[in-house]
Amino acid sequence: MPYLSKYKASVAAVIVLGAVAALGSRFTIVFIKPLIDRLHLDPGEAPTADPASSSALNKFTDAVLEPWLATFGDWDLDPGVSQAIVLVSVMLGMAIVFAGVQYVFIKVSRMLSVYMITDLRQDMASHVANLGMGYHSGRRLGDLVSRMTADANTALRILNMMIEEMVQSPFNIIGSLLVAYAAEPTATIGTLVFLPLLALPVIIIGPRIRRRARKSQDSLGDTTQLLTQMLSGIRVVKAFRMEEREAQEYRKANDEFVVQTRGMVRAQAVSLAVTAFFANGGVGLVIGALVIVHLTIVEIFHDVGTMFAFFIAIGTLFAYVRRLTRAFTGIYASMGSLDRVFEVFDLQPDMRINPDAQSLEKVNQQIEFSDISFSYPGAPEKAIDGLSLTVKRGEKVALVGLSGAGKSTLLDLVARFYDVDSGAIKVDGVDLRDIKQDDWLRQLAVVQQQPFLFQASIRENILYGRPDASEEQLQQAIDAANLRDTIDQLPDGLETQVGDSGSRLSGGQAQRVTIARALLKDSEVLLLDEATSALDSESEHKVQVALANLMEGRTSFVIAHRLGTIRAADRILVMEFGRIVEEGSHDELVAANGTYSHMWKLQLGLD
Ligand SMILES: Nc1ncnc2c1ncn2[C@@H]1O[C@H](COP(=O)(O)OP(=O)(O)OP(=O)(O)O)[C@@H](O)[C@H]1O
Ligand SMILES: [Mg+2]
Repeated sequence: MPYLSKYKASVAAVIVLGAVAALGSRFTIVFIKPLIDRLHLDPGEAPTADPASSSALNKFTDAVLEPWLATFGDWDLDPGVSQAIVLVSVMLGMAIVFAGVQYVFIKVSRMLSVYMITDLRQDMASHVANLGMGYHSGRRLGDLVSRMTADANTALRILNMMIEEMVQSPFNIIGSLLVAYAAEPTATIGTLVFLPLLALPVIIIGPRIRRRARKSQDSLGDTTQLLTQMLSGIRVVKAFRMEEREAQEYRKANDEFVVQTRGMVRAQAVSLAVTAFFANGGVGLVIGALVIVHLTIVEIFHDVGTMFAFFIAIGTLFAYVRRLTRAFTGIYASMGSLDRVFEVFDLQPDMRINPDAQSLEKVNQQIEFSDISFSYPGAPEKAIDGLSLTVKRGEKVALVGLSGAGKSTLLDLVARFYDVDSGAIKVDGVDLRDIKQDDWLRQLAVVQQQPFLFQASIRENILYGRPDASEEQLQQAIDAANLRDTIDQLPDGLETQVGDSGSRLSGGQAQRVTIARALLKDSEVLLLDEATSALDSESEHKVQVALANLMEGRTSFVIAHRLGTIRAADRILVMEFGRIVEEGSHDELVAANGTYSHMWKLQLGLD
């Protein structure tokens, strides 16, 4: 409904056009009666109303059509022939007009569904992008993509069907009923008894179709999931010569899809076949019953013309009821997809959005961690366990510790990829959660452990954090990140496309691009997670110099495994099991003879 309400004018147009096209087309049936009446007209004779029949159709033809025909169909021909030509011309003329209306109707209604589905996809993308890292680190990319493409497309198909059939079929049914009733009121009421039978199969089998469709779409999602996984891990697949096995896995998933889809198709076939039986058998049954009643009990049919009009109207009536039930069958089949689409919308951002959040110009004094704890959803152990720390503005702190100690997690908490479970991170005394997210993120520049580049040019990748930077600022960042030589060697220089996730660059080159991106952003707080791990000693030294310049006067959190790179930090924090176990300057920690000193000696090869 919200998507429909954005297009009120189109919706109104669709309903009006649909009604006009449907009712108008049914109205042409009315002309069949006078046409048939020409059959038993002697030359020169005007048809007279059957006194026994007083149906609305008869009254209409006698009072309106016949006088009109007498005037316009009076040529130098047999009156029956000339009037038949007039009648047929009128029917053709109406058919052309209503075909035109139908054309506009289909165009407007199909475009309406395209707009709505595009809006839906757009909303879905924004919604997913705004979900927290808690969702993203656990989601299955392929399945999500399948929901956003395959399922959304199925939803588009439903919409087309719904809008067309749901708007037009009822009017076609009403139109047919009106004509039938005008022709033969008693017989029409007799017929109505059969109509509910046509809807019966869909009502009974529909829910099953929906369940089956859901399974079918789920397994389609699984196939996409496998495919994206194989393609994103193609290097591993090749290195381990697993192409065959991956293909087999994909085959298995596809077989499962076939099995699930067969279940859905079977349910659909049953429903449609039963409807077909009621529709075809129903028409026979209705006509037979009416004929028998006519012969034995009461005369129903008075003249051939009305009878023809009645039967044609009843025939179309059944056809449209059948189309409507067919549409419902299709809709049930697509509901499984819609369920999958709306499940994505049901996911709530795990991050609390504070409507009264304050704005923040810059960090003035300090960032304070007071007794914070955090565990990943579903993880048994706390990743951060009661950690307290105060970092003064402009201070450079280094985080070291064994793999899994919680260093990256701590930086993720600062970047608000996750919120703490207890305790608080405060900036100048204000809880991070009470600061406008945008304002806080503007203070941060992040270089992550796994450099990520977009499939775009190097220039676009560097400009990502600050699209309005000048060419001069861009060039400075390139120099500072020691990227100049690399870029000069590339055939297209700055415009070189880096490939999917930067796959055309070496690890060290990709890392320097991400450093340039962070340098260009020129922000207050730096989060560097192993920012130089992929660099050789030579370029690492140069980048270290650049980073040292960058860190000057900024608050920095630096994670490093190579302890040599952080000797100059103001303070070194040693983490273990989500806690800080030692802190101090390099010299102090070496002298203290604890964990750090042990790590240091190991790296020097002294232990
Ligand atoms: N997305 C996640 N979901 C669940 N658990 C996670 C997730 N990311 C990390 N962890 C767990 O949290 C703990 C801390 O991980 P973290 O990445 O912070 O370690 P780290 O100190 O950065 O290690 P490394 O030096 O290897 O990068 C680990 O036990 C890890 O298994
Ligand atoms: Mg890490």
